[in-house]
Amino acid sequence: MSTMNQLEINGPLQDFFQKSTIALAMSFADADNRLALVNDPFCKLTGYDSSDVLGKNCRFLQTSPSGKKAPNDEARAKIHDFLRADGPATVRTPIVNFKKDGKPFVNLLFMSKLTGGSGVVRYILASQFDISRAHPNLLQDYESELGSALTRIKPLLDDHNIMIEGTLATIANSTTTIAQAKLTLAELEQNSPY
Ligand SMILES: Cc1cc2nc3c(=O)[nH]c(=O)nc-3n(C[C@H](O)[C@H](O)[C@H](O)COP(=O)(O)O)c2cc1C
Repeated sequence: MSTMNQLEINGPLQDFFQKSTIALAMSFADADNRLALVNDPFCKLTGYDSSDVLGKNCRFLQTSPSGKKAPNDEARAKIHDFLRADGPATVRTPIVNFKKDGKPFVNLLFMSKLTGGSGVVRYILASQFDISRAHPNLLQDYESELGSALTRIKPLLDDHNIMIEGTLATIANSTTTIAQAKLTLAELEQNSPY
């Protein structure tokens, strides 16, 4: 794990990222939401090293190394809505991504706003999970890990006068969600050789 040096939240938060078993990423809330911190499970999931990704917007995951762009209109519209200043506190959406080796996967992306004392969004916290290759039990385990991560991160942010907005909206029917993700992936793999 490594971090961009402009990150003022350090120490305990970095330890927390380091120890977490689920993929976590945090960006600045600047014009292009540059990644400030990613952990090892994020790197393992995507195949990218932290040095490849820090300082970049995470949208690069939507394009394969050979330059094919996944049709993610619905997911991106949801993310755009979330990113608006008056948008919702959290968002959860499946989105088609590619690993560094070009392998597509359906990423169940969760994002939450982190706000400063003045109510201004300072950072965005995200977590990623490959639902296209998961068993429903694995998604349930991930959901409980993510839920507990969001609870445990709160006091670490308090020390920096930063609040995490909203809570985890759990996936109502994990079996259906996974089945849809596998279908999306099968269509993708059939129609376009990435
Ligand atoms: C902290 C953070 C993590 C993100 N993680 C992902 C991700 O794993 N996969 C992805 O496709 N998009 C991810 N995004 C969303 C994209 O960076 C971007 O916001 C989205 O594509 C909508 O913007 P655009 O239409 O300008 O690309 C993430 C965004 C943030 C702020």
